[in-house]
Amino acid sequence: MSSNRAPVTEFTKDTVIVVFGASGDLAKKKTFPALFGLFTEDLLPSNTSIIGYARSPIELEDFRKRISSYFKTPTPELEQKAKDFVALCTYVSGNYDKDESFLNLLSHVESIEEKHETKNRLFYLAVPPSVFLPVATQLKKHLHPGDSGVARVIVEKPFGHDLASSEELQKGLAPLWTEEEIFRIDHYLGKEMVKNILPFRFSNQFINAAWNKDNIANIQISFKEPFGTEGRGGYFNDIGIIRDVMQNHLLQVLCLIGMERPVSTNAEDIRDEKVKLLRAVQPLSMDDVILGQYGASEDGTKPAYVDDETVPKDSRAVTFAALHMQIHNERWEGVPFILRAGKALDQAKVEVRIQYKDAAKGMFNSLPRNELVIRIQPSESIYAKMNSKLPGYSTKNIVTDLDLTYHDRYEGIRIPEAYESLILDCIKGVHSNFVRDDELKVSWKIFTPLLHEIENNKDIVPEIYPYGSRAPESLPKFLSERNYRRG
Ligand code: NDP
Ligand code: BG6
Repeated sequence: MSSNRAPVTEFTKDTVIVVFGASGDLAKKKTFPALFGLFTEDLLPSNTSIIGYARSPIELEDFRKRISSYFKTPTPELEQKAKDFVALCTYVSGNYDKDESFLNLLSHVESIEEKHETKNRLFYLAVPPSVFLPVATQLKKHLHPGDSGVARVIVEKPFGHDLASSEELQKGLAPLWTEEEIFRIDHYLGKEMVKNILPFRFSNQFINAAWNKDNIANIQISFKEPFGTEGRGGYFNDIGIIRDVMQNHLLQVLCLIGMERPVSTNAEDIRDEKVKLLRAVQPLSMDDVILGQYGASEDGTKPAYVDDETVPKDSRAVTFAALHMQIHNERWEGVPFILRAGKALDQAKVEVRIQYKDAAKGMFNSLPRNELVIRIQPSESIYAKMNSKLPGYSTKNIVTDLDLTYHDRYEGIRIPEAYESLILDCIKGVHSNFVRDDELKVSWKIFTPLLHEIENNKDIVPEIYPYGSRAPESLPKFLSERNYRRG
């Protein structure tokens, strides 16, 4: 729970990182590449060893070859770095719930630690949720160093399926691992532009002063992907877009956009403010939403969601949603926050669009509204749509952008991958960009009534939109009814 102000221990040397589920997709796409990224930047603690752990029997050399294939090494220098990195990696095969397997892992860890002065153990659970608890239990039983060291556990979403299952999971974890030891990843919190939201808001007085219901007409947080669930339909069908990216990633962005100024940059001060904001959010109901599912593309080249063989033909799974979130507090009363997310849309884009209220008329007839856009990806940027006089003799107003596009402004600066930045935070013991237990609980309280209503009421059928389109047809009306005006 909140307000633990104990000093944090940074792992600066002698660290053992164990990646559970090392044979899997996340380990391949994110965890090992992120560890390699940190290694190339010299950001891993000195004397770090990495152990891959999974059930699949894999010979050490094959494991190292497999890991090497996860990295891009376009230069001889990087190729050498990759060789040095894989030399730090070993592999242990074992079950996720058997004492013998974990005792075997322990003896491997201890053999590495013979040369260490301290025991710094980081356990990364890149495993399906069904084995979170067995692994966490075995780790606590056999690999927690107690008072002779420090242990941390990184867990991946999903943190439950609804309020009850999330509480159940937490009830299982809490007696084993303290909040200080648990790092719940929401990888959006590791993205550069998401990490910039608080500094941008609170260190620029002209932005901060107008950040309220007196000046802002509405805020949209949008997530668009240009591909469907091809190949992942089976996994997605029970989850849907709301659980997949909205209850977690987009809600975290909403917290950073909406929260009050934390009293310090301490993790607990930041997370206290997030929880306070979430408690002011009205739980969602069907009056607040549009639901969609993608059909085949108009030219027939892309399949409908239900064409996926792993999906039932009558699936009502939601692949697009727009949700009107209402925040009942002094700053935001009456300002619609719209979360929109969809698969199989026209482009890849994640952004926050803050639309300001109309400028006073009289002097002007009708001006486009100011907008401030924080582009999270691709091409990180912040730009503001301003009204300005057309230069020269004209007295006409035009819309122009004040543009801070990162790759133009900060040429040559490497923006770390979200997972690199989060694993580094965990190494440093900093929790600011991880999800706290009470944040989870209050976020599930907002979403659970809606999710249950969608699942239980068979009359709720998502609107079909063509693969590759901008959105379901009803979206423009939904937005204009919520005070959004297209410029
Ligand atoms: P995988 O399905 O690839 O599973 C990881 C490993 O766990 C597998 O290689 C397998 O290893 C083992 N495993 C798989 N199924 C079971 C099972 N039923 N019982 C026990 N062990 C099993 O998962 P991902 O790597 O995709 O995801 C891992 C975690 O990360 C999940 O919680 C997921 O929700 C989360 N996540 C994944 C993302 C991604 O991009 N893949 C993105 C965000 C979060 P072995 O059989 O060798 O033990
Ligand atoms: C994951 C979702 O959490 O986030 C995926 O499960 C989604 O469905 C992904 O594609 C998006 O992450 P990113 O970093 O590619 O925007």
